Amino acid sequence: MPRDDRRLTDRYPAVRAATEKLCESLAEEDCIVQSMPDVSPTKWHLAHVTWFFETFILRPYSSDYRQMDPRYEFLFNSYYEAVGQQYPRPRRGLLTRPSLREVYAYRAHVDEAMVELLRSDPGPSPDLPDLVELGIQHEQQHQELILMDIKHVYSSTPMFPVYRGRGEPRTDRVVPPLRWLEAPAGIRSVGYDGDGFCFDNERPRHDEYVAAFRLASRPATNGEFLAFLEDGGYDRSDLWLSDGWARSREEGWTEPLYWLRRGGEWFEFTLGGLVPLDLDAPVCHLSLYEADAFATWSGGRLPTEAEWESAALAVPIDGNFVEDGILHPRPPASGGRGGAGPVQMFGDVWEWTRSAYAPYPGFRPPAGAVGEYNGKFMCNQQVLRGGCCVTPRSHVRTTYRNFFYPHCRWQFAGVRLARDLD
Ligand SMILES: [Fe+2]
Repeated sequence: MPRDDRRLTDRYPAVRAATEKLCESLAEEDCIVQSMPDVSPTKWHLAHVTWFFETFILRPYSSDYRQMDPRYEFLFNSYYEAVGQQYPRPRRGLLTRPSLREVYAYRAHVDEAMVELLRSDPGPSPDLPDLVELGIQHEQQHQELILMDIKHVYSSTPMFPVYRGRGEPRTDRVVPPLRWLEAPAGIRSVGYDGDGFCFDNERPRHDEYVAAFRLASRPATNGEFLAFLEDGGYDRSDLWLSDGWARSREEGWTEPLYWLRRGGEWFEFTLGGLVPLDLDAPVCHLSLYEADAFATWSGGRLPTEAEWESAALAVPIDGNFVEDGILHPRPPASGGRGGAGPVQMFGDVWEWTRSAYAPYPGFRPPAGAVGEYNGKFMCNQQVLRGGCCVTPRSHVRTTYRNFFYPHCRWQFAGVRLARDLD
């Protein structure tokens, strides 16, 4: 991890300001709603990321730090058992107090102490830069969550509010034809081995054997997914994983989350409001189960993590990220015809893989409470790669492993097909 304290003195206030900027256009009412147990109110996110700095940095490393309210330790602890008990996640929408104003005051209180600590000379501990870096990366993760969650909150009212985004016309971008990129069999090195920051779950770098495969040059589009839907894809049990079929029946899935049919036309709810479905844009808000059924229907499969990462190695980390302000996946700018490699590996949509979220060989979570950050979730979830249109650009790496339960649909998740080479 970087050990440049001066950079942290700049980056800490920048990441905190970026979070608050995302919330500028929200009404107070927007910030307290929890539309489902997976969604957290914006107010809770704003407080929880602050709690993270308070708990893991200020309290252990700043001798004169005083908590603004000791009750926050319980209210805003997400899942850290080593820290103590947590307020139940599905009830976060009931937290009318502290008020939003008090949460912003809590942020200011912690920011003042953090800036003072980061400027102190000499630095209080050699561990501090790594922890601050982790706190910054954690806050970036919650920036994405704030947008995912507010989209779900807004989708829950027939008013279909507009957050912002989709500021450009749809007509200037046309989806390129899908090409199949062949990759030979071989040993691939997977995982992070650089000098910069990475999460513990990206290490250790290790070798994996990958059989020859084909990877789609781009993610699947709304138009392609619509063909699956119109072919009865949601009604054909033969296409679905057993758990997926059960979940689909139980929850009555008949289209991707946020798709809506009105008067024979398809629309989708976006952070820019309800808009006609763009058939050329990458399909989004799929569960793993829908992505897998679509892949089976297409005669393909989902790529593995190792396949995805080896294909992404030569691809620059560029694409449609939160800074672009579009806040929705879109077709590639150039039509993707210029190069021979894959397009849209980064940004637009997280891409489901067929790889279970499991520890890499030799993985050991760090000691202490921060060891609970990733390791304890390595069961029953599935890996997604590449970042999406609401991910901060500087947050993504080629080796980045996102993970969600297979039934989750509210994250910006799409699908890139793979095929065995026979
Ligand atoms: Fe968190």
